[in-house]
Amino acid sequence: MNIAVLGSGGREHALCYKLKLSKKLDKLICIPGNAGTQNIAININVDLKNFDNIYQILTKEKIDIVIVGPEQPLVDGIVDYLEQKKIRVFGPNKFASQLEGSKGFMKNLCKKFKVPTASFGIFNDFDKAKNFINLSNMPIVVKADGLAAGKGVTICNSIDEAKKNVKEILDGKFKSSKKVVLEEFLEGEELSYFAIVDKNSYRFFGSAQDHKKVGEGDVGPNTGGMGAYSPAKILNNELENKIKKKIIEPTLAAMKELGHPYKGFLYAGLMIKNNEPFLIEYNIRMGDPECQVLMMRLDSDLVDVIDLATKNLLKNSKINWKNNSCMTVVLCAKGYPEKYIKDSEIKNLSSAIIDKSNQIFHAGTYKKKDKIFSNGGRVLNITSSGKNLVSARDSSYANLKKINWVDGFFRKDIGWRAIKNENN
Ligand code: AMP
Ligand code: GLY
Repeated sequence: MNIAVLGSGGREHALCYKLKLSKKLDKLICIPGNAGTQNIAININVDLKNFDNIYQILTKEKIDIVIVGPEQPLVDGIVDYLEQKKIRVFGPNKFASQLEGSKGFMKNLCKKFKVPTASFGIFNDFDKAKNFINLSNMPIVVKADGLAAGKGVTICNSIDEAKKNVKEILDGKFKSSKKVVLEEFLEGEELSYFAIVDKNSYRFFGSAQDHKKVGEGDVGPNTGGMGAYSPAKILNNELENKIKKKIIEPTLAAMKELGHPYKGFLYAGLMIKNNEPFLIEYNIRMGDPECQVLMMRLDSDLVDVIDLATKNLLKNSKINWKNNSCMTVVLCAKGYPEKYIKDSEIKNLSSAIIDKSNQIFHAGTYKKKDKIFSNGGRVLNITSSGKNLVSARDSSYANLKKINWVDGFFRKDIGWRAIKNENN
């Protein structure tokens, strides 16, 4: 089978890695890819906004299935476009992509279909938002309605801070957002819960915990994710049952009722309090860096799974997971998540261990004359599995130490919460 993966991050490298392990794979292309995917797939450099060019490449390369990695092309309607051209593509259509593309859409859906989530208000008028803030408890969470590359959410501790953030969003800080969502602050522990979905059924597709804040001890500004591990210790059978019955299934039923059955990866960002799940956000794709740890734990053949999903036959599949733990530590360019250093050479990468239990998934990298350079905020994902989280963590950090990159930094405490409990 010939498969194309769209995207250029650690998530896409991890998807390519897992696809490449399948005997059913004939050809793998990655559009546009990075220096990591270049070693296992054919990178083709096309702008993901240019659907016509993508289509030309897919037909020229005789691609059977397309897997869309990032949210932007999904929100822009790439699935609708390719389906019209009779290309088999795995991901939600433009309407269903609003689950991530519009926080207002997602919150209204939760309200209508009784999915537990933080109480909220949606505003495009500053005075009305101000009144809502004046009547709310602090902290309050201020969110841009549309996609904002992980930068659209601020937890505000004072009324003034909340008003300032609302004003910035309504004044057009994010091109994608003319509306603002104000939310009750939920306390608890976060969990990333994944499902793979087709028109007829869905399957659990792994659990993980991410580390969104840039600083150790979970402080500082939000990032795309500084590291993750899987499985998430907080997930138990009772909680999983609640997640399915109260969140995933009502959402999938709602999308059917709205005339747009969901298909693709569905990533629920949850807050767990007293073993009860609350939906914080939906993402319409795999998580990054969660995908990196999940692809190393997935035992089943990913080509088979995606083949069945795109034929709406997931109900015939059994998805197996390895009984191990996996961790990824994200190596970032200094300055990230603000302005960061670019085009900096990463040395000694070849001395890192790459085997069944240790992988380095590239994100913002490119190759020039056999040297690897950075060109993104999140640059490498040092990923290892082990019999438990401590051994996975020790292997990741040991491998990371072999890399020599003066312009890089990383969090030294990935997994701290779970490891504290593992040691107790
Ligand atoms: P989002 O982009 O909606 O996932 O928000 C980014 C991060 O902000 C989440 O991962 C949480 O850490 C935090 N967050 C968002 N909404 C809330 C909320 N209602 N209560 C507490 N924390 C939240
Ligand atoms: N890990 C966060 C995200 O993929 O959005």
